[in-house]
Amino acid sequence: MFHVPQRDSDTPGKSMERLFFLGFVAALAVSGAGGRYYGDKVLRLQPEIEEHLQFIKNVSRSAKVDFWKPHSVELVTTNRSVDFRVDADRVSDLQAGLEKIGLKYEVLIDNLQTLIENQFDRKASRSLDYSYESYHNWDQIESWTATIADENPNLISRFEIGRSYEERPIYLLRVGNRTGSLKPAIFLDCGIHAREWISPAFCQWFVKEAIRNFGTRSTLDTLVNELDFLVVPVVNVDGYSYSWTKDRLWRKTRSRNPGSACVGTDLNRNFNAQWCAGGASRDPCSEIYCGPQVESEKEVKAIAGCIRSHSSTIKAYLTIHSYSQKCLFPYSYTHALAFDHEELNNLASNAVDALTSLYGTPFEFGPGASSMYVASGGSDDWVYDLGIKYSFTFELRDTGKYGFLLPESQIRPTCEETMLAVYHIASYVLNHL
Ligand code: ARG
Ligand code: ZN
Repeated sequence: MFHVPQRDSDTPGKSMERLFFLGFVAALAVSGAGGRYYGDKVLRLQPEIEEHLQFIKNVSRSAKVDFWKPHSVELVTTNRSVDFRVDADRVSDLQAGLEKIGLKYEVLIDNLQTLIENQFDRKASRSLDYSYESYHNWDQIESWTATIADENPNLISRFEIGRSYEERPIYLLRVGNRTGSLKPAIFLDCGIHAREWISPAFCQWFVKEAIRNFGTRSTLDTLVNELDFLVVPVVNVDGYSYSWTKDRLWRKTRSRNPGSACVGTDLNRNFNAQWCAGGASRDPCSEIYCGPQVESEKEVKAIAGCIRSHSSTIKAYLTIHSYSQKCLFPYSYTHALAFDHEELNNLASNAVDALTSLYGTPFEFGPGASSMYVASGGSDDWVYDLGIKYSFTFELRDTGKYGFLLPESQIRPTCEETMLAVYHIASYVLNHL
């Protein structure tokens, strides 16, 4: 056997090491020779009747299936498609079962391992510059936060707002021209869910663009002159690291659950917004486990603490997830419409128009509960109820072809189009202070 490099301790910025490392990823997959996900498929099911739902529930109990969209069997309903991953050795049984009861399905991903390997579909650049069109592991991102702040002292400052369960620092980059006066702020976080790699890539892209545009009198330059952006590039630092070293499809935190062999809490079910009501689970083995109590997770404490202590300066909250191409706003914990529904709906509609104008990427928008599913304990709802009106969750590309395994070649277009939506919202906020 060959030696698996400890990617968590890779030194960033060395292109040789990077080439070496990419080779290993391609050859080995995240854990184990042959690849942990070799032969696994992702199916999209179209349940139409109660019998179909029962079937899906039974399958989720007996076999190793991993729900991608929605994120948990508890959220499955008729007339909405279900994407999930099936272990290679269960595929043929399952397909036979589906055909028997007439549950329509398509194979979204035929061999998951191939896709995991194909995420890294850009040639490693020869440049020594940090690549914003590559995915980076946590060590690389961490040293990037230090470098970027050091190199741009007039625009960027780095703060540690807390530590994760495994004691990794959670960083916040304040991006904004230092004008001397207290500026209204927009909070932007990425990487709440570990496997959604495009999300931290977007936060890094945003910071890079702010630097590149500084002093150019462009839209973004105006925005960073008038506003501060409080950017958390990776919230779930433990989960993110784990998705690089052990399990590419990890979602939750890495906190241990006493009395259970299952690890982790879903950060986006752990906020104080009708905590652990609809669309969340009390089962530590669930992907939507709400945690032992509200704000039990240190990562939530860090984000919520920071937002609470700046709640009068923060005018908007944007949280970046993937996948499904949606712009969501409160509420997700109830079907009731938010007090500001009209305004949020219009703003989302216009933000999405801006996004779509670039490459034609279709985006849906609406309240979380009706556009996606009911889910309590989310950061967006918590922030909104705290009194920060402009609260949005973005679900970036794609709609399931690659899902969480979006290839690096899509980082650029995805980030470019998303920037337009962010500009739109930020400009609106600036004009409505
Ligand atoms: N995919 C996200 C999640 O499941 C959607 C978040 C929407 N907002 C919410 N409060 N549930 O966490
Ligand atoms: Zn997510």
